[in-house]
Amino acid sequence: MLTDPFGRPITYLRISLTPRCNLRCVYCMPAAGLPAPEKGELLTNEEIAELVRAAARQGVRRVRLTGGEPLLRRGLVDLVRRIAATPGIEEVSLTTNAMLLAKKAVALAAAGLSRVNISLDTLDPEKFRRITRGGRIQRVFDGISAAEEHGLTPIKLNTVVVRGLNDDELPALARLTLEHPWHVRFIELMPVGNAQDWGPGFPAADQRYFSVQEMHQKLAAYNLQPAEAPRGNGPARTFRIPGAAGTVGFISPLGEHFCAACNRLRLTADGNLRPCLLMDEEINVRDALRNGEDVTPWLWQAVARKPEGHELLLQHYPQTRRMVQIGG
Ligand code: 5AD
Ligand code: SF4
Repeated sequence: MLTDPFGRPITYLRISLTPRCNLRCVYCMPAAGLPAPEKGELLTNEEIAELVRAAARQGVRRVRLTGGEPLLRRGLVDLVRRIAATPGIEEVSLTTNAMLLAKKAVALAAAGLSRVNISLDTLDPEKFRRITRGGRIQRVFDGISAAEEHGLTPIKLNTVVVRGLNDDELPALARLTLEHPWHVRFIELMPVGNAQDWGPGFPAADQRYFSVQEMHQKLAAYNLQPAEAPRGNGPARTFRIPGAAGTVGFISPLGEHFCAACNRLRLTADGNLRPCLLMDEEINVRDALRNGEDVTPWLWQAVARKPEGHELLLQHYPQTRRMVQIGG
């Protein structure tokens, strides 16, 4: 069983399938986009499937597919089928902006996808268009409906909270859980390659951070009660508005306890294992995969390099990748 030097069992693998995205959220991607990956730069489905087999033999039980936008990946349905059929893998989930979900939910569910997390930072169509630099919010709602219809549940909605941009919408987003069995999770903005100017009308870099404590204040009127976490809830702290169908969670990367329960390893689309989301060190496994070598020693090395915690509070920020290249 993969276990890191601090005794944390590593049972969860997040795989970024592509650094491309059909949106350009201000906090995730530069306005001009990123250079397209070169031919041969990304892992193939074969290579990913092989890495998952090796990881499953070492105790990995859950896989999440991320991006960029994973629904842009060619051969996605086949890859999901292969990962879901890997001995030892109990669950395959996916994080998406839902632009293409209405179209793909049926096939993904049939291939063995368990559930989806969907990014939704606002309920205002015009604000959605601004944050995502062009997205249509109706497609998110259509994607959510399709996911529900095909059993890709429980549905989690991820909201990155930015002061002066959407902190006023926390009550409305939390109220979604009254009627819907959705799990809304409010996430503190992480300083990952997003310190630049986001353009006219957006808050300045030093004003954007909105803490989980402040989020709780915004929601004080709702009398949130500690609740049991939905499946695979990771670092979220979970609450419920009394009587609500869904839950409200808070993810505080800058707060305490975020790292103590860390159970994950990340694989970038170009074949690097990333021991920590919030630190730049990576270990190349693409060469080993292409040479037909066993990647098990590299998995152990990546796990051995997991830090006890990130160093954001020391202002050691990751520099080498944008969030769209890591997958959150
Ligand atoms: N801080 C916090 N969350 C982020 N995400 C993307 N960038 C950031 C950031 N800087 C979220 C997205 C998506 C998930 C993969 O990560 O909103 O829901
Ligand atoms: Fe794309 Fe998701 Fe990043 Fe937005 S947050 S740019 S939808 S990968």
